[in-house]
Amino acid sequence: MTPKVPAITLNDNTSIPQLGFGVFQIPPADTERLVSVALEAGYRHIDTAAIYGNEAGVGRAIAASGIPREELYVTTKLWNDRHDDAGAALDESLERLGLDRVDLYLIHWPCPAQNRYVEAWQQLVGLREKGLTTSIGVSNFLPEHIDRLSMTSRVTPVVNQIELHPALQQWKDIDAARVHGIRVEAWAPLGQGRTDLLEAPEIVDAATAHGVSPAQVIIRWHLQNGVILFPKSSHPERIRENIDVFGFELSSGEMADITSLDEGEDGRVGPHPSDVES
Ligand SMILES: NC(=O)c1ccc[n+]([C@@H]2O[C@H](COP(=O)([O-])OP(=O)(O)OC[C@H]3O[C@@H](n4cnc5c(N)ncnc54)[C@H](OP(=O)(O)O)[C@@H]3O)[C@@H](O)[C@H]2O)c1
Repeated sequence: MTPKVPAITLNDNTSIPQLGFGVFQIPPADTERLVSVALEAGYRHIDTAAIYGNEAGVGRAIAASGIPREELYVTTKLWNDRHDDAGAALDESLERLGLDRVDLYLIHWPCPAQNRYVEAWQQLVGLREKGLTTSIGVSNFLPEHIDRLSMTSRVTPVVNQIELHPALQQWKDIDAARVHGIRVEAWAPLGQGRTDLLEAPEIVDAATAHGVSPAQVIIRWHLQNGVILFPKSSHPERIRENIDVFGFELSSGEMADITSLDEGEDGRVGPHPSDVES
């Protein structure tokens, strides 16, 4: 049976499947096979990026699936050295993906020292107007970067994709996004598989109570918080497990127990957005 993944309406009136499949660190040679497994399992939302080097594999899996294009949601991202060159960068991504448009194009990192993200955003607005991407958004933007965009553009990003998991809950950034009507997407939703998270008693106890895995509990926690996410796995059985999360619900007590695992900045598994320039 195809899993019933909820759709979230974005501030441009488009909708996005709340749960997808992320392909960061999936080697190009494995991408077509693993994305095909994901599509077969019922995923309809794929999150890739130019820098992952695997857009072509995503495109081949999409083409081979026979799934109508309008049923799929494909995100890719503008890399840091192309902030002044977004049109050509998106053309190259579309060529690799074998698509004539993506659903969502993101500025991958703000790169504040380069100070070109406002210029990049203006280009993304133009690409949306040309129909090369249906929606546009940002990733790893701090509240101050979003404020700056809102002062310089009439177009608001539909999402901000940030590192977010039980050890790094980012409530301040979530609130800042909400003020602008921007939805939050969680990258590293499983903390990139951090074993101390998957083995935390609060998560293991909930998993035992519901007869599911710790990863499924964390995915439910995000879904019930209204966050969009796309866990990555290179294992077909885990890819299927990670979308099999619609047959149980965490109680408010279980949700609160997981929320108590926040470590703030100490919980980061990736770099801080102020530190990434290339
Ligand atoms: N915008 C950005 O800057 C940015 C940065 C990073 C990621 N992302 C996006 O977010 C997506 C997800 O983040 P992520 O890939 O970094 O990390 P993640 O999804 O939090 O974690 C992936 C790790 O968890 C393991 N895992 C997956 N399912 C599991 C399960 N059911 N049980 C136990 N372990 C499991 C995987 O191992 P196996 O693969 O061995 O199964 C892998 O090591 C990425 O793929 C990418 O699309 C965006």
